[in-house]
Amino acid sequence: MTEAQLHYNAVARRLHWTIGTLVIVNILFGILHDPLGKLFPVMPIHKSIGLLVLALSLFRLFWRITHPAPPLPASVGRVQAVLAHGLHWIFYALMLILPITGWIFSSAGDRPLSFFWLFDVPKFAVEKGSPLAQGTHNAHELFGIAWAVLIIGHVGAALYHHYVQKDGVLSRMWRGAPGA
Ligand code: HEM
Ligand code: HEM
Repeated sequence: MTEAQLHYNAVARRLHWTIGTLVIVNILFGILHDPLGKLFPVMPIHKSIGLLVLALSLFRLFWRITHPAPPLPASVGRVQAVLAHGLHWIFYALMLILPITGWIFSSAGDRPLSFFWLFDVPKFAVEKGSPLAQGTHNAHELFGIAWAVLIIGHVGAALYHHYVQKDGVLSRMWRGAPGA
């Protein structure tokens, strides 16, 4: 196995950090939309970022399926590896669930859904107050908060590997193999 095969490829790395940043910003915008809304139009930006995350995540999933992740270093135990992979696939599911539930319940609102004021995005035929609108709204809030907690665990694990175990797990996502 070459050093390059132990690192995520450049496309996977760029997608990870781009989507990761957008998701963290969007969770903060979602939770703090009341105070932030007094300063700038936070909700149209939240919705646009969410739709961008959906498009990028569909491509990322395709990329992940066609380009398997590099194997973990031998120092990472079996239980830890299973937990890490499980959490990563939960993240892939949330990258679709959060934007899609937001898109569905926002379709029931009166406001048009625009993508960064560039063009209007079509809405689903959802009635205001319907079980679908309420269920997706509840799911959006519940999964959004749960994701925030899981991200703290994910970042904590990455920092633990880097500073305590010093096993190079963070650098496989941070940069390519030396000289690659
Ligand atoms: C500062 C924040 C973050 C750090 C330091 C970080 C770090 C990492 C590292 C080191 C890996 C590679 C783990 C391995 O080699 O097995 C990874 C994988 C991953 N991260 Fe993050 N991450 C961050 C934020 C996020 C966020 C916000 C998301 C949510 C979209 C996310 C989603 C993922 C996913 C899905 C993988 C699995 C990649 C794969 O194997 O396909 N990360 N992250
Ligand atoms: C990466 C994608 C997304 C994430 C991580 C996310 C996360 C969140 C979070 C954490 C909240 C706050 C929940 C609460 O405590 O009240 C929220 C609220 C909201 N989100 Fe999203 N969201 C995403 C995408 C979307 C999309 C695509 C739309 C619509 C097209 C949307 C529409 C809304 C609306 C309207 C609220 C306010 C709900 C309320 O307060 O009643 N979100 N979002």
